[in-house]
Parts: sequence; structure tokens; C-alpha cells
Amino acid sequence: MRHTWWWWAAAAGQAAAQKPLTKWQLRRQKQKSLKVKQGFAPSWTRSEASNTYSNDALTRDMTWNEERHCEYAAPSAERFHRRDSFVVALAYDTPDPLPTLAVLNSTAHHASTLPEFAVVTTRPRRLLGLLRHPRVARDLPPGLAQKVRVCGGFTQLLVQRPALAKLRLLSNASAVGAAAAARVRRRELLSPFNFAAFYLPHVLEAKRILYLDTDVLVQRDVVRALEHYELGGKAVAAVEDCSQKFEKYVNFQLLNRLLKRKAMGGLSRHYDFNASTCVFNRGVVLIDPERWRALGLTLAIESLVEAYVKCGARLWRGGVSQPPFLLALGGRYAKLDLRFNVRGLGRVDIGLSEFEAVNFVAPHKMLRKELRRVGTFRQKFHLFVAPLADEAFVLHFTGELKPWRLSASYAEQWTTHGAALTPTGHVSGGCELDQQLSGLMDRRIYYCRKRAPCGDARFARFNSTTSLFASACLARFPLCAAGRGVAACASLWHGYVSPAAARVADL
Ligand SMILES: *[C@@H]1O[C@H](CO)[C@@H](O)[C@H](O)[C@H]1NC(C)=O
Ligand SMILES: *[C@@H]1O[C@H](CO)[C@@H](O)[C@H](O)[C@H]1NC(C)=O
Ligand SMILES: *[C@@H]1O[C@H](CO)[C@@H](O)[C@H](O)[C@H]1NC(C)=O
Ligand SMILES: *[C@@H]1O[C@H](CO)[C@@H](O)[C@H](O)[C@H]1NC(C)=O
Repeated sequence: MRHTWWWWAAAAGQAAAQKPLTKWQLRRQKQKSLKVKQGFAPSWTRSEASNTYSNDALTRDMTWNEERHCEYAAPSAERFHRRDSFVVALAYDTPDPLPTLAVLNSTAHHASTLPEFAVVTTRPRRLLGLLRHPRVARDLPPGLAQKVRVCGGFTQLLVQRPALAKLRLLSNASAVGAAAAARVRRRELLSPFNFAAFYLPHVLEAKRILYLDTDVLVQRDVVRALEHYELGGKAVAAVEDCSQKFEKYVNFQLLNRLLKRKAMGGLSRHYDFNASTCVFNRGVVLIDPERWRALGLTLAIESLVEAYVKCGARLWRGGVSQPPFLLALGGRYAKLDLRFNVRGLGRVDIGLSEFEAVNFVAPHKMLRKELRRVGTFRQKFHLFVAPLADEAFVLHFTGELKPWRLSASYAEQWTTHGAALTPTGHVSGGCELDQQLSGLMDRRIYYCRKRAPCGDARFARFNSTTSLFASACLARFPLCAAGRGVAACASLWHGYVSPAAARVADL
């Protein structure tokens, strides 16, 4: 299916309004509009804008039935059917409900007015059980349970989408060939659930959807800040991430070759990004669902997925669901302030500069220099003081060391376990590195300085992320400014998950 209909529609519309144009004039006009639009940005007309929720084909195809699929955390809650609502949406298919509890609790804790929450999960019972447990419910912000609906059955909806079904086949070597099957090493990425977020605009009735990953922590009133956020006609707003460029994800050679033959996913040869365009992070995305549906973004993502499957998984790398989202949007998103997605927390590696700053070189000078680069994350490691953490609306634990992998007490003991950095850049606290380990770290990091390959081999001695963090105090969880001092970011997370809740979730 070709997705260039909007050009033809636009050209035809214009032609009809004026006196009939010659073939040559039409072609000129089309070329002009291509130039102006720099890519596949659809030309936007009123009649398309008024696409209503119910008459969109994909929405009808999704056969979403809220009565059947969703349940409120408070059984007595009134169902909401308000198109003007602000919905905070989460989607996850892991067993642990605690990360979601932390997101719900922290969002509500800071919100002046509670938003609606919609959680789409493969384990609705577990989350509902947790939220309804008396020892958990009593510690939740008042009214929250009335606002949280938990929805299951989404996987069944997703596998009905032909593109996602084909994608799943990629794990079957006898169906797609060994080479293609081998290209996606992490099989779980082929799970249709990774695409769940892209279907939310078709199943949730809302004026705005704030999609959040479950490894975030909300630290300020995101509802007030984003409820009336001006998207400037864009379908989504997200935070730009210049530590990664499109080339990391997209095989541009192949993309250009495919596009020479035909447009796909609404993408033409004149796309509005290039190999060195910064990506955006999909962990925090503000969506205008009506605009999203009108632009057909979900269908665009699906056709890109089909192209990906068809070319034997060579069109992109570094994830399966992130690249088509990047491609479908290109540069057409509103850029949210960096504070809405302070990411990089929980990283495993430390950089040479971090190591030196804390250990060898004048620490405060180094720290200040590092912090001045706030927010740009230019392919460099930064001190483990998360930049902007004290002003963050949303902290994002993108690294492997998720806060729930540390116990609450361990997360709090950072001052005695590791080197402590004060806001003025002084290092205090003892870092009791094991002698042998210390030698190992030194050597490995020295290799990196020599520009020798310094990938994960450095940490080969550690068989788990946690063992690395527990062993080497420098590779510790990042510090977040909190009050007038600093605290382990992970301990902030534990502040939103009561010990009782952690025990209930363990049952
Ligand atoms: C893999 O593909 C083959 C051939 O298309 C098919 O017969 C088989 O049932 C598939 N296996 C799975 C696990 O889907
Ligand atoms: C690539 O795109 C960026 C914007 O994303 C632009 O600033 C830059 O000039 C482009 N580079 C080339 C070579 O076109
Ligand atoms: C990791 O290493 C430790 C000691 O080095 C060992 O006791 C433990 O069993 C290992 N764990 C795994 C999962 O291999
Ligand atoms: C929710 O967060 C508040 C504030 O940090 C905390 O006191 C409370 O224990 C948390 N509730 C649960 C159920 O964890």
C-alpha cells in the first residue's frame, strides 16, 4: 500500500479550487510542494483534521472494548468517557508491578489535579491485586484508585495486526531463513507488545496522552505542565537525544535504495532527516491522539515494519520498535524541554573522565566542566551526578541498573559505600575499593584511554550488573540533587514504593 495519498489529495484539492491546470502545471506544483514540505509531512487540510475518533478504520479494526478489557483499581469508580481528558498511559509486559506503582504514585503525588491513568499490561491481575491490597491502598494519594484503569488483552489485539504477526515470524528460521532470523538477537524485541504504545491513540479516548515508560519517576507536576502544552500542529512531543543519531538505527543505504522504488510508511525519498539527525527518546511522549490518527502514524509504522520484515531485518538495528517510530516521525515532533526526560540514570559504564574526576584530578574543577555540558550528552560519559536531576519533571532510568534491583536500604547507603559528591563539587566519604578490583578497574580504563576497544569486555569479570555495582564503588548509581544535597537517584525511587508495597508485590 502506498501512503502518498495526501500529496495527490492536496494537489487535486488545489487544482479543483482553481481553474483546471495542465499536466505540466500539476507536476510543477507537486514538485514545489515536495520541496516545501521537505519530506513526507502530509499536507494538512481541515477535512482530514476532523477525522473523528470513531470513523477511523484502524480504531474500528482494533475492536477495543473497554468494558471487557479494563478494570478500575477502585471497583466503584465511574467510567470516564471524556474526549477532553489528559491520560497518563503506561504499557508493560514484565511480571513486576512495582515500577508501575512508582510511576502512578509519583505522578499523582505531584499533580495538583489527578489525571486519568491507563495501564495496558499482560498481567492486569497482579497490578490490580497490588493497588487494591489494604496495606498498599492506604498509602496511595486519595482518589488515585478511582482514576487508574488497568487493561489486559492487548496482546490479542496486537497479534491481529498483519505487520506484527509477520514480525513475530522473524524468530522462526524455517519461515524467514536463518540469516534473517539471526539478525534479531534479542527475540523478545519481536514481541508485538513492544508496539503497544503506538496503538494507544486508537484505543484511548483523550485530548492528550502522556505515554511514560515504567522505568521513570515523576518529580513534578507533569499534568499542569503538559495539559495545555502547545504541540504546534505536531502529533507528538518528545525530548531530543543527541547522544544518538539516526545512523545508529537506520541503514540509510538500504533505505534510499528501497525508497527509490516506492514510498513506504508515508516516507518518500525526500525525508526530513539524515544520518546525523539526533534521535528522540520514546520513554516520555506527549501525544495528540486526534492528530496522530489523522496522520495515520500507526499505519505508517506498520508499513515500515512490513518493509523491515520483507528485507530480512536489514533496514534497521538497535531495537525493533524504536526505529520505525523514529522513521515515521522523522523531524516532525515538538521538542520537549530536557527536564521532561532526564535520562541516562542507572548506566553500567563509567567514563574515563568520571573516573579521573573522582579519583585523580582536582575533582571540583572537573565536575564543573562536566556539568556545563548539561543536557547535550555528546557521546561522552558524564559524572554520575545526573545533570538537571534537581529540576527534572521526569527521571528516566535508561541504564541497566533499575532502582528496583537495589534494595531501599542499599540505595540509601551511598554515602558510606561510595564517593559522595556535594553540590559544590567536593568529594567526601570513603570509597573503599577492594585492592584487587581497584587494580582491575585502573587497567581496563587505561586501555580505553589508549583508544583500544573498550566495550563490555572491561566488565567481563562481573557476571551481572548488580555485582559490578556492588563491587566497584565508582561505578555506582548516579546521584541526583535532592534538597540542598545529593542523594542516590535510586533512593528517590524507593521513596514512592513503601516497604509494605514491596512485600505485597513479592507474595
Ligand atoms: C515456522 O515456520 C514453518 C514454515 O513456515 C512452520 O511450519 C512452523 O510451524 C513455524 N514454527 C513456529 C514455531 O511458528
Ligand atoms: C541533517 O539534518 C539536520 C537536522 O536534523 C541538519 O541540521 C543538517 O544540516 C542535515 N545535514 C545534512 C548533511 O543534510
Ligand atoms: C556470579 O559470580 C559469583 C562469584 O563470582 C558466583 O558466586 C555466582 O554464582 C555467579 N552467578 C551467576 C549467575 O553466574
Ligand atoms: C507513595 O508515595 C508516598 C510519597 O513518597 C509514600 O509516602 C507512600 O508510601 C507511597 N505509597 C505506596 C503504596 O508505596
